[in-house]
Amino acid sequence: MAIRNIVKFGDEVLEKECRKVEKFDAKLHQLLEDMKETLADANGAGLAAPQVGILRQVCVVDVGEGPIELVNPEIIATEGEQNGAEGCLSYPGEYGLVKRPMKVTVRAQDRNGNWFEKTGEGLCARAFCHEIDHLHGILFTSHVSRMLTREELENGMDDED
Ligand code: NI
Repeated sequence: MAIRNIVKFGDEVLEKECRKVEKFDAKLHQLLEDMKETLADANGAGLAAPQVGILRQVCVVDVGEGPIELVNPEIIATEGEQNGAEGCLSYPGEYGLVKRPMKVTVRAQDRNGNWFEKTGEGLCARAFCHEIDHLHGILFTSHVSRMLTREELENGMDDED
C-alpha cells in the first residue's frame, strides 16, 4: 500500500470525465487500497480516483463506519434535502454551504465487479454525491451557495437552513 499525492484545485485532471472500469484486476485492487490509505491519512470522508490523478470511475467513502469502495457508481434514488458545510481534500481548508439530498441510494460494482446497492443518509449521502460528482469532473464549488468563514465553521453550520 502507498499514500498517493492528492491533486489540488486548478489541475485540469479534476475537471475531466472519468472512464468506466472494465478490468477488475490487481491494478484496480491496488488503486483501491492506496486510495483507502490516502483517505485515512488525510482524515477525509471521501476520495475519488481523479484526485489521485486516475481518470477512472472509482471512489472511496468513509464517514466513520469503515470504508465503502464504489466502482462505476451511479445515484439511483434520492430523498429529502440537507444544507450544510462541505469541503474537499483538493481544496484544503476551504468549506462552502452546499445543498444535497438527505438520503441517497447508489448502485455500484465492488472490486470484483459484483453489483450492489447502498443507501446512505446525512454525511454519507453528502459524500456519495460529492465523490460521484468528481467522477464526472464536477467540483463542489459549482454547488456552493457561498463559502464559509472560519468563525461560521467553528460555530457549526451543519443542517442549517
Ligand atoms: Ni472532493
